[in-house]
Amino acid sequence: MRVIVADHPLITHKLTMLRDKSTPSSTFRTLADELMTLLAYEATRDVRVVPHHIETPVAPTEGVILAEPHPLIVPILRAGLGMLEGLLRLMPSAETGFLGMVRDETTLEPSVYAERLPAKLTGRQCYVLDPMLATGGSLIAAIDFIFERGATDVTAVCLLGSPEGVAAVTKAVGDRDVTLVLGALDEKLNEHGYIVPGLGDAGDRLYGVAG
Ligand code: PRP
Ligand code: URA
Repeated sequence: MRVIVADHPLITHKLTMLRDKSTPSSTFRTLADELMTLLAYEATRDVRVVPHHIETPVAPTEGVILAEPHPLIVPILRAGLGMLEGLLRLMPSAETGFLGMVRDETTLEPSVYAERLPAKLTGRQCYVLDPMLATGGSLIAAIDFIFERGATDVTAVCLLGSPEGVAAVTKAVGDRDVTLVLGALDEKLNEHGYIVPGLGDAGDRLYGVAG
């Protein structure tokens, strides 16, 4: 698995504001959206394109356009929704599939509670969005789900990752074609499976405490 940790002062600046516990939900949502847009530069580096002929006002020239089938963006509900618009804005012709997952806060095991993805993902470049890579259980399950539908190429984008989570995903992915783009690689997981220093519960900070 290829791991890219963003190294850019603007990303670190926005992550600092995102982590701050005094940042309200409205600002948190704006920051998550902006961070996704900044990380998209790395995440879409290998997006497939085909040659495209155009005429500028001055001369004919060869450019490129996104290849078909267009990419599929898969935000992991809930928290991944906070990153969706930030990528769709840059790739408006991408399609979106949804995967709802929740982590049992005692066992830390993820489960899928909703799924709305194309039945076949053969030939699709898939972009999985989830702000938090903690134990890695949720991302591993999401990647497995997408590969089982025929995809051969997944890019995962997370705002924060833990070393334990990156190691778990690397092991689980094996030799499959997966790229992981992180806004930052944090220090560790705590005894509750939270990223340290992290930002707390991303879903709650985006959308309020779930019942
Ligand atoms: C959070 C986060 C990831 C998962 C990460 O979701 O958005 O999906 O935990 O943890 P893991 O790497 O240990 O699996 P959560 O289950 O809290 O659901 P939510 O997005 O609805 O808040
Ligand atoms: N999920 C979160 O939202 N935050 C963490 O730190 C770990 C899992």
